[in-house]
Amino acid sequence: MGHLRSHPYLAQGLRVCDIGTGSGILAAAALHLGAVHVMATDLDAEALALARHSLARVAPSARFELRRGSLWDALLPNTCFDLVLANLPNFPAEAIVTEGRRAAWSVGGADGRRAIDPFLAGLPQRLGAGGVAIFTQNRCVGLEKTLEQLHSDGLFAEVRGSALVPIGPEKIAALSSACIEPAGIVEVAGFVFLGVDLIVARRIAHPDDPAGKVWRDHAAQTGAFG
Ligand SMILES: C[S@@+](CC[C@H](N)C(=O)[O-])C[C@H]1O[C@@H](n2cnc3c(N)ncnc32)[C@H](O)[C@@H]1O
Repeated sequence: MGHLRSHPYLAQGLRVCDIGTGSGILAAAALHLGAVHVMATDLDAEALALARHSLARVAPSARFELRRGSLWDALLPNTCFDLVLANLPNFPAEAIVTEGRRAAWSVGGADGRRAIDPFLAGLPQRLGAGGVAIFTQNRCVGLEKTLEQLHSDGLFAEVRGSALVPIGPEKIAALSSACIEPAGIVEVAGFVFLGVDLIVARRIAHPDDPAGKVWRDHAAQTGAFG
């Protein structure tokens, strides 16, 4: 949300998709910043009802659509966007026992990548030329793996922000041993924090480069992927 607010041109006048919209906060921000149309999806019917209410407060219904379904399955084939937003569940646990918050908000399976991997697999086909994806990922579930996947799909991707988010005892207890980068978990004075990265990926627009090959060659020459 902060990144979007400081880069409003990423949404202004453009087609936006918010995958796993929850309360609709990111979709509403995109509408508020002038997105021409926002598609918001979620698995959860109640979340979608809440999101509908939030979005209706920001824009007329012609400017948004809500669809229920898992990740890209909620969308018609071949629909592309200028901006894709996602804050998907990727805490490495099979189950978390919490009061109030739903497991579907954070549980990402043993390696934490149950939603992230299919999200990444479908992303290149959903970004129009020059399209941008902004999404969060807990660092302990494999930052390098995600960046490599994006780069091999011809997207330029980098971490544009990071935060340490405190995690409570129920999550600490549920933390899977399959978590691939334990370095993403930090303990300070008895408090446990999860490193969360904001990843921005761009499909470079190039007339001769529908699959991003030119950008990959450029990156290989310049070391742009680090
Ligand atoms: C951490 S919440 C994020 C909500 C909101 N986007 C935000 O940033 O506050 C994750 C959301 O993803 C939804 N979700 C979980 N798995 C999903 C899937 N496979 N496909 C679509 N939505 C999913 C959950 O129902 C929940 O609303």
